[in-house]
Amino acid sequence: MLRRPRRNRKSPVIREMVQENALSLSDLIFPMFVMEGEGVKTEITSMPGIYRFSLDLLLEEIQECVDLGLRAFALFPNLPEEKKDKYATESHNPDGLYLRAVREIKSRFPDIALMTDVAMDPYSSDGHDGIVENGEIVNDETLVVLGKMALAQAQAGADIIGPSDMMDGRVGYIREVLDREGFTNVSIMAYTAKYAGAFYGPFRDALDSAPRFGDKKTYQMNPANSREALIEAELDYAEGADFLMVKPALAYLDIIKLLNDHFDLPIAAYNVSGEYAMVKAAARNGWLDGDRTMLEVLTAMKRAGAKVILTYFAREVAALLKRP
Ligand code: PBG
Repeated sequence: MLRRPRRNRKSPVIREMVQENALSLSDLIFPMFVMEGEGVKTEITSMPGIYRFSLDLLLEEIQECVDLGLRAFALFPNLPEEKKDKYATESHNPDGLYLRAVREIKSRFPDIALMTDVAMDPYSSDGHDGIVENGEIVNDETLVVLGKMALAQAQAGADIIGPSDMMDGRVGYIREVLDREGFTNVSIMAYTAKYAGAFYGPFRDALDSAPRFGDKKTYQMNPANSREALIEAELDYAEGADFLMVKPALAYLDIIKLLNDHFDLPIAAYNVSGEYAMVKAAARNGWLDGDRTMLEVLTAMKRAGAKVILTYFAREVAALLKRP
């Protein structure tokens, strides 16, 4: 045998020398949940180790993450039911919880990258990402709300705007609003290929944001489709997106690779709540080694072509890599 692939696996030094992909803390964005109140922190039952924090405790948590070497965060709000309405008015209230949190985080931690979420669901009494009219999610009327939300977030100090709503034309619409108001430096990470699947359950528990009727299939993509992801990517690219995201990640590695092969923008993968919950549940039962599985799935996302990974594991990865 002239070819013996095992020679390149014979020792740790050689294995590391030929390793093609590696996880780095600078790739990770840690999604976090903010809630009202003071001194409160509640664990999300279906996401062990992940909490909703009141703003004071959230700032402490971010400090700890920064000390561990994390530098990028995404923020989502958990609002009480009485703050929600049909038009997600609270989403652009400058004195509301979310925008106060963004301002406070950026003034305490000017050097981190803070990504904000643009979609109506956390603020919507219908639990949908857009405006509901006669049982339908109306696209163009929704863009107006999304534009207000994005502008308010930019004014509050957001570094990256993350439209997670899947309305048509929203990246271009938001880009224009931001540019017109002088926020040409605020980035957009488009949720480009966001699939209408079952993996978002724990996240909707975290925000109490499940749709009050129906599902999200008229705006999020069909999990059976891949070519359609290219159409979404072409549009987001043309509309000025700075990153193209695939969501969920683990069951959609082929989509990550597809977008990475066709586009020169950095590809992001969202390792979503349900993917986190699966690993945690198996690890808690002693059925999987949690740490190793975590590193393996995240590395697989890098191998598929993700440059950036949004993951609830970020803090744990940072702690693990820091351990001697
Ligand atoms: C909605 C939104 C969702 C997530 C982020 N933004 C869920 C949904 O579409 O219902 C899911 C994130 C996760 O599951 O971790 N705008």
